[in-house]
Amino acid sequence: MKKTEFDLTGPDVMKLSWLLSNGQVVMLTCCNAEKTINGIITACWVTPASHEPLLITASVGNGEKGEEAYRACHALINETKEFGLNLPTPELTEALLKVGTTHSNEVDKFAETGLTPMQSNKINAPMIEECFLNIECKIIDQITTGDHTVFVAKPVAVFMNEDVMTDGKFSEKYINKNNQVQICELITAWNLW
Ligand SMILES: Cc1cc2nc3c(=O)[nH]c(=O)nc-3n(C[C@H](O)[C@H](O)[C@H](O)COP(=O)(O)O)c2cc1C
Repeated sequence: MKKTEFDLTGPDVMKLSWLLSNGQVVMLTCCNAEKTINGIITACWVTPASHEPLLITASVGNGEKGEEAYRACHALINETKEFGLNLPTPELTEALLKVGTTHSNEVDKFAETGLTPMQSNKINAPMIEECFLNIECKIIDQITTGDHTVFVAKPVAVFMNEDVMTDGKFSEKYINKNNQVQICELITAWNLW
């Protein structure tokens, strides 16, 4: 196949990031120290980073290089050093869109989407009841990479729908890609390519 050069300085550069992050989309939850403001981000730059100890990184826009990467949740996460990771099924696609295109300091995303806040066990941030896997995380390190901050976090409690795993095996329902939400599907559905 003949290759054409991709323009790293052109307007399509963000699409390269989308292709590279064709993985599970999550809803990241957080709150302020007083627990009076809740935030949710649709996020796909979330990845396991170590087995031992078990660590997960989440890359969150910090707005340092302009409005494009401003995330109201960045300040909340920085304030409490914790967040929740909630894995959605395709029924939550509309909610993912709303959460990923509005700001938590302007709208109450739980009220806006109808998602149900669920009390966490070991962190203050609420989890999302409708999601099949809820991972409570505490941040142990962070690095500013550019217009995003990579938060390194340790899972401290994990809850899942009772049908997700039986006898140490994940149910077909959840391993099946039809029950996961992948970023490229969302981008295709929203005509963002
Ligand atoms: C499919 C999708 C994936 C996204 N992934 C990320 C991500 O990994 N990190 C991030 O900071 N923002 C990501 N965003 C953008 C945020 O969800 C979006 O800017 C959101 O409105 C921020 O909310 P906030 O202002 O309440 O923090 C993504 C958006 C979409 C639609």
